[in-house]
Amino acid sequence: MGKPLISFAQIAEHDPFFLDVDERPDWPTLFGNSNPLKLEIGFGMGNFLIEMAAKEPGSNFIGIDFYHKGIRKIMTRIKNLQLENIRIVYGDIRNKISYLFQEGELDTVYINFPDPWPKKRHIKRRLIKPEFINHLANKLGPEGKASLATDSERYAHEMLEYFNSEMRFQNMDDNFGFLKERMDLPKSKYEKNYINAGEKIFYLEYLRLAPVTSAT
Ligand SMILES: C[S@@+](CC[C@H](N)C(=O)[O-])C[C@H]1O[C@@H](n2cnc3c(N)ncnc32)[C@H](O)[C@@H]1O
Repeated sequence: MGKPLISFAQIAEHDPFFLDVDERPDWPTLFGNSNPLKLEIGFGMGNFLIEMAAKEPGSNFIGIDFYHKGIRKIMTRIKNLQLENIRIVYGDIRNKISYLFQEGELDTVYINFPDPWPKKRHIKRRLIKPEFINHLANKLGPEGKASLATDSERYAHEMLEYFNSEMRFQNMDDNFGFLKERMDLPKSKYEKNYINAGEKIFYLEYLRLAPVTSAT
């Protein structure tokens, strides 16, 4: 007999580190502190998120994905490493971003190698679109950061165009283009694979500008 199938909703009932929610959790209560909130969208197998949480105990990390194998893997690693500053949300960020966080609540958002959907008829499935960038700008606090990486040249240029058009984000590259490398951040699984294959990676980093206040 195979293992009984346990739904993610059932796992969520027993594992406080896993959330299958349809309303905003009170993040400071959940983490037991008000440390900066850093979100990784589409963590895959979770290598980047785990390394970040281990190296930055003074920040709280949230990962969201719907990839079952990756979720099971990261939940085991969180337990084994006894990481307290990480929570996993099940689901599609496009449906959940509006309620998961309050305006200005996020410190940083990481999006590493979002699915590029290269076929023309699938392009509409891409995550990075003006409407989604608007959500990110709303949820990031002043001086917050969005950090992205992709190997897809086409998608990279699309991301650049959309992000550069959002007035609340400032491109951190001197020429308002791509960064060649990313210092001080662990490499995700896809990133390592592309580096080993000698592929070019396009990195983007944006600063969420604070609203301009008038002197009067
Ligand atoms: C190409 S993989 C990259 C995985 C990992 N970030 C890396 O760099 O190794 C993309 C991941 O994003 C997840 N994903 C795609 N669309 C998503 C969405 N709308 N919301 C949450 N996760 C998403 C997929 O399930 C997959 O795990």
